Amino acid sequence: MDTLKAKYLTGIANAADESALEDIRLAALGKKGEISALMATLGKMDPDQRKVRGAALNVLKDEIDAALRAKKAALADAALDARLRAEWLDVTLPARPRRVGTIHPVSQVMEELTAIFADMGFAVAEGPQVESDWYNFDALNIPPEHPARQEHDTFFMHRAPGDNRPPHVLRTHTSPVQIRALQTLGTPLRVIAPGRVYRMDMDQTHTPMFHQVEGIAIDRDISMANLKWVLEEFCRAFFEVDSVELRFRASHFPFTEPSAEVDIRCSWEGGQLKIGQGDKWMEILGSGMMHPKVLAAAGVDPSQWQGFAFGMGIDRIAMLKYGIPDLRAFFESDLRWLRHYGFAALDMPDLAGGLSA
Ligand code: PHE
Repeated sequence: MDTLKAKYLTGIANAADESALEDIRLAALGKKGEISALMATLGKMDPDQRKVRGAALNVLKDEIDAALRAKKAALADAALDARLRAEWLDVTLPARPRRVGTIHPVSQVMEELTAIFADMGFAVAEGPQVESDWYNFDALNIPPEHPARQEHDTFFMHRAPGDNRPPHVLRTHTSPVQIRALQTLGTPLRVIAPGRVYRMDMDQTHTPMFHQVEGIAIDRDISMANLKWVLEEFCRAFFEVDSVELRFRASHFPFTEPSAEVDIRCSWEGGQLKIGQGDKWMEILGSGMMHPKVLAAAGVDPSQWQGFAFGMGIDRIAMLKYGIPDLRAFFESDLRWLRHYGFAALDMPDLAGGLSA
């Protein structure tokens, strides 16, 4: 029995896995196992001998059984340890940065200029991109046969056959929002209206769809001086320079009187644009005092109220600020371009934190 015990306990200790253990269990304690065979011989013994041998065999059987269980548990523990080692993960490692997309320069610039004008008390207004002929032209003192209509290279919407009303247009500028904002918000009023506009034009600096921001301020005594200050403040904040110089050039728009186009002083050296210095001038916007007929068309009494208006190309100032040479690339949806010129998705421009930081 000692030999049997030694043989099985060594076998159990050396078993490499559960199936080896099961083989040993069957060889010792299975129906045809060695211990079971010895148990079967007890019946032929005389009672005294049977008592002694039976007890000893039971002890041996229990010992082997306990050794089997212990080894089985140890094998399971070892397997778990091995798995834990293999599936180990360092939770203190910094996460890999994941791209959540980039903000298009046009969106970035819209956020920037909204922050700057909000700081000066301007709210944001919007209007439809498919606009009626009246809002886009007539209300802005551009009657049907006016030559300005041709200059706008307008896209016209279809009317149903037999419907002879003037067709709707894709708005050619953000100026119709002047009228809409006055109609819904009344006077006094300070709003900007950024958005998409459309003209049939396509070259390095023109695309059939582009962006403008309109701005109007209306009160009892608003003047060109207010316009000049607002635009200078805007340009200083937007281009993030200490000083800018603007040049107001007499011009003509049907919806402003007087009218001025505004240029900003800049320099081009080695293909690098610098704002606020140099001997070049870059046109950035059209502006003027709102025409009395425009105020009247919006239901405002021009003998009581007056205001300035300006319209600025957003894509144009984005190109200037961020050194983007070709406007067409803005609308090609090339991810490589976006990753190069785009902005982090979670950085919101604000005046205190830095606009384009
Ligand atoms: N709407 C004009 C344009 O497209 C710009 C402008 C707006 C001029 C407001 C004067 C006042 O080009």
